[in-house]
Amino acid sequence: MRDVAVIGIGLTKFGELWEKSFRDLITEAGIKAIEDAGISGREIDGIYVGSMSAGRFVGQEHVGALVADSAGLTGVPSTRVESACASGGLAFRQAYLAVASGIHDMVVVGGVEKMTDVVSTEATNTLATAADQEWESFFGATFPALYALIATRHMYEYGTTREQLAQVAVKNHANGALNPNAHFRRKISVDDVLNSSPVAYPLRLLDCSPVSDGAAAVILCPLKDAKKYTDKIVKIIGSGQASDTLALHSRDDICTFKSTVLASKMAYKQAKIKPKDIDVAEVHDCFTIAEILATEDLGFFKKGEGSKAVEEGLTEINGTIPINTSGGLKAKGHPVGATGVAQIAEIVMQLRGEADRRQVKDAEIGLTHNIGGSGASCAVHILEVV
Ligand code: COA
Repeated sequence: MRDVAVIGIGLTKFGELWEKSFRDLITEAGIKAIEDAGISGREIDGIYVGSMSAGRFVGQEHVGALVADSAGLTGVPSTRVESACASGGLAFRQAYLAVASGIHDMVVVGGVEKMTDVVSTEATNTLATAADQEWESFFGATFPALYALIATRHMYEYGTTREQLAQVAVKNHANGALNPNAHFRRKISVDDVLNSSPVAYPLRLLDCSPVSDGAAAVILCPLKDAKKYTDKIVKIIGSGQASDTLALHSRDDICTFKSTVLASKMAYKQAKIKPKDIDVAEVHDCFTIAEILATEDLGFFKKGEGSKAVEEGLTEINGTIPINTSGGLKAKGHPVGATGVAQIAEIVMQLRGEADRRQVKDAEIGLTHNIGGSGASCAVHILEVV
């Protein structure tokens, strides 16, 4: 296997983007990534794109071909990857494996979703297709409802409080306020979260990631070639992927996502590092409880101690392990197919020292964690500036 580097990143703004089409978004992100890498589009010999449900959100399937066409890259092999909200993370892993194996030499990985063209109920139902249709969605269990069950159990098992959940949203909105591409750029308080509309007990509106439009893209090439394009080389040092049962009721413990534990073990092993070596991480905070679960399952904190860590400020930009400096899914936004690729872009910015007011001091190793549904799929990547 060859070593692989990320040499370019591109992001659109995330949010409710009425003026931009699905095609506009992914093309804009791809062009920005190509410009950032300083390559010519003609050098690209492979395309991977993460998109969860373009068919239901905008009536467009066959996304791989669409992206090649829009980018003026017809002829280049272009593959769509779908794994619900982890579609972007899994597309990145497929691209990494393709370059590492020697199949491709210059790959663009995109992630895109345009979710706000449909009404809220349709967006909720479309997202719920990633849960177990027969045993969960059919009975009305949407994702807010499933994560509400997890939050309730975590509160019961570990004494996690409503205020601690709110503090995740407060931190991520504060980070999002520093991110020009974020869906929400306003700071909020614990009281704002506690007084926002109830969604599914104990989760309220401000515990939820929003329904967003947006796209992200990154460029990968063999490490040995990266020096030609940049002197701030970011190497992929670990890549892990795992799966779990689709439905929550089939699991021994709903306070742990086994897919996160397994995917991160795989990535840490390949990178030959421990969780304490990570300087900055983007984790999948689709709901406030999800960030707490992630920081525990990734090994940053012991099980049950993730909520206390947020309360103590350990996960803030200047904390011991800064989490979701971009604003996370909560404030940066969650255009589902784009999320996993946008996480990579944020970590690359951090490792290159280009994250402006949200820069983590001396960040050298960063991690991304992208979840599908309520943890049935997961991708974890570890990047290092070399
Ligand atoms: N966080 C903060 N503000 C939000 C928000 C969120 N998650 N979602 C909506 N808002 C704001 C909107 O900007 C709008 O503000 P405005 O009145 O100032 O314009 C207001 O709340 C109402 O927006 P609306 O779109 O009508 O909200 P909604 O009630 O239809 O949807 C949720 C709210 C929480 C149900 C929706 O955001 C949601 O389903 N989130 C979860 C998405 C999800 O499950 N993703 C997959 C995870 S696995």
